[in-house]
Parts: sequence; C-alpha cells; structure tokens
Amino acid sequence: MKSKSVFVCSECGASHPAWSGKCRGCGAWNTLVQEVVTATSGSKKSASIVQSVTPRSVTDLAVRPLLRKMSGIGELDRVLGGGVVPGSLILIGGEPGIGKSTLTLQLAISFAATLGTVLIASGEESAEQIALRAARVGSTTEALQIISTSSLEEILATAEALKPVLLIVDSVQVIASGEIESMAGGISQVRTVAEKLLTYAKSTGTTVVLVGHVTKEGELAGPRVLEHLVDTVLTLEGDRHHELRFLRTAKNRFGATSEVGVFSMEGDGLREVANPSEIFLAGRLDGATGSCITATIEGTRPLLVEVQALTAATSFGYPRRTASGFDLNRLAILSAVLARHAGVKLDTADIFVNIVGGLRVTEPAADLAVALAIASSKAKKPLPSDAIAFGEIGLTGEIRRVPNLPRRIAEAKKLGFKKIFSGEEYKTVAEAVKKLGVQ
Ligand code: TYD
Ligand code: MG
Repeated sequence: MKSKSVFVCSECGASHPAWSGKCRGCGAWNTLVQEVVTATSGSKKSASIVQSVTPRSVTDLAVRPLLRKMSGIGELDRVLGGGVVPGSLILIGGEPGIGKSTLTLQLAISFAATLGTVLIASGEESAEQIALRAARVGSTTEALQIISTSSLEEILATAEALKPVLLIVDSVQVIASGEIESMAGGISQVRTVAEKLLTYAKSTGTTVVLVGHVTKEGELAGPRVLEHLVDTVLTLEGDRHHELRFLRTAKNRFGATSEVGVFSMEGDGLREVANPSEIFLAGRLDGATGSCITATIEGTRPLLVEVQALTAATSFGYPRRTASGFDLNRLAILSAVLARHAGVKLDTADIFVNIVGGLRVTEPAADLAVALAIASSKAKKPLPSDAIAFGEIGLTGEIRRVPNLPRRIAEAKKLGFKKIFSGEEYKTVAEAVKKLGVQ
C-alpha cells in the first residue's frame, strides 16, 4: 500500500497534489485541507468503454407519482414533502444533543412497527444504549435491528444480509471505509462513506438516513459535496435550554423546502406540536413593559412569538446592543430609526432584545414588534395585551407591508389578538409609537 498526501477542498471536494491558497476547482480561498490517502490495490477503476446513450424525449417518459411511505410522524412526513421516498438518501444535521439520534430512532421504531425491518448502525452509541432509549420512546419490535460499528463495510454487509426498508447511519462523521486510510470524519472519508451509501440506497431502493454533525458556525461538518450528494438535507434546530425543536429542509429533491416541522423534546422523546403559537405565548406576563407579540411565518405556517426588549441606562461609554434570536445589525438599524424618526431617545441606553422560546426570527416582518418593544421599555409603558405587530421598517421610518398578511392576521385572531399594528394601519413607525403612547 502506498500512502500519499493530497489537498482536498472543503467546499467542492476537488483534490490537488499540492497546497495552494485558492481551490482550482471552485475558486474558493483557504479551503484546502490536507488528507492522507492510501489507495489499496485493486481499487483502480478499469478503463471504461465509452458508448453513446440513446436519449429519450421528456414527453415519452412516464410521469409516475412517487410512492412515498408514511413514517407515522406527521411533522416529519410533511417536512419531507408528504412521506419518505424509497431509495432516497436523507441527511439530518444539527448541533450535538439537539435530538438527531432521538428523531431517527423514533422514525426507525415507527417504520419497524408497520413497514418492515429497520437497521440502525451507530458508531456513537452502543446497541444497549440505543435499546434502552428505544424502550423509553416507543414500543419496540423485533423488526428493529441495531449494530454498533464504525466500519462502513460492516454496515453494508449487514444491510445486504438483512435487506431493511430503512437504514440509519449515526453519524456519517464517525463511520470510515477500510478502503481509505485517512481518519473518520476527514473529507475523503465522509465523501466515500456518503457515496457508497448513496449507491446502496439507489441500487436497493432502501431509504438511507445519515445523521450529520454541524460545526460551531452551524454548517454541516465535512465537505460541501455531502450536501450535493444527498437527496434531502434536513436540519434539526432549537435552543437546547428550551423544549421546542424545529425541523427544516435546506434541500429536498422530492418536495418544497419551505416546510418546518415543530416538535417538543419530552421525557419520552420528541413529540409533535400542533399549536406552537400557544407554547410560545404560554408564560407571558400581562401588562409587562418591553413586550410585543409578532406573527412570523415559519415555512408555510404562521407562528406567534413574543419579542422582549429591555432598555437600561448605559453605565459607561458606548451603549450596548445585545440580541438573542434576532440579528444584531438589524437591531442597530431599528434603534437608529427609532431615535431619528420616532423621537425615542436611545443614545445613552443599552438595549437587550430576546425572542422568547429559543426561536430565531430572521424575517423583516418582526421589525415593528422589536421597535415597539424597545419603545415600550424605554417609555416604561406596556402595550395593550391584545396587540400584535408586524411590518418591515425602512430607513426612512416607513412601515412596509409584509407577505402572507391574511395568514398572520388569521392566526392572531385565533389566539385572541384584536389590535393589529401593521403597514396597513400605520404608515410610519412614528405614527405607531404615538398611537400606542410609548414615545
Ligand atoms: P440526542 O438525540 O442524543 O441528540 P443528538 O443525537 O442530536 O446529539 O438527544 C439528546 C438530548 O435529548 C439529551 O440531552 C437528552 C434529551 N432527551 C430527552 O429530553 N428526552 C428523551 O426522551 C430523549 C431520548 C432524549
Ligand atoms: Mg446522537
């Protein structure tokens, strides 16, 4: 065996014989990582004979509806576009401890109960640990088979023998192929493991679910090619200190990417949440200053959340702006607009903003609620408890209309909010602030 060193781009996966600052494959800078590769004998591809292939007209190809399998976990099925597609390769990413293993185990239990054999291959936990957890989160059947290994070849051989309908690999970063000598989790290993599992999924029609780690920046660890290879990329998000979890689609070859599944982490696993707004609003203090409700759209569903703001006198020097669940730059802009156009004096005030429930709101529609919460805290006056606000705020202090207005209003009314503050009623943030008496 001869080992050699190559430099692999972590963005596109192109390999280079020597290090360079720029990837020749995709042009990205500083993305080359050294990898030691040992090619075992016999892995050389035989020269293929190139033949022309007869193309088929798109109109001749039969359009068959995808035969999907329902996992029985409604929120997951919805996020996948209406069930699990046989032969698809699904990647579930998320931070450590967020619930990836729990979610995939629940999927496995559900499949095993109705659809046939399921194999869980875990390189992270022992079979006993998984069995213990399985007993906690659901009723177990013999159809659920578990192996604890980090060898890709062992996983594939077991799967060939067992012929499961669903194979779960937890996690792609700890599984290694014996054909390559670099470490598990390295770029070439992750890519090889994913490629071989893709071939397995497509050739056998087995659905394969890969669990993936994410880096501190929230990106999936490993090469970008992993995301290109798989059919579907799901991410499980949430604040570990809160029970709510959001399952989002970053990519889906078999459905829309706008769906979001909402779960709550309970003592017996992840439970589907039918009415997330109620959870977000539970525990809200009536008549509190610095609190404003907004309606944000998560996927295709409206969700009511509480925005909290606290202003405090700056004790020395530069006023602080701190945000949790909200973009800090956006907060700086909103504070400047409030000061300049609505007469709210904030130049000597520290501002803290928090989105309750561990949700991250990125929609500009939340602007008005953030601005009103800040104004309310500064004026030490509460907003009416049945008021709700949504609207994007522009640099000239105007309130812009937001998409999906009827859906937001319907959700607000359903939960008893009557006073609606939006671009429909108020043209500027100054008008809204004046009307609410929180200047
Ligand atoms: P896990 O699925 O192991 O996370 P990941 O695979 O993403 O690292 O979930 C771990 C956390 O979930 C752990 O801190 C305990 C919690 N948990 C519950 O609260 N209830 C449960 O029923 C289970 C199985 C886990
Ligand atoms: Mg895990």
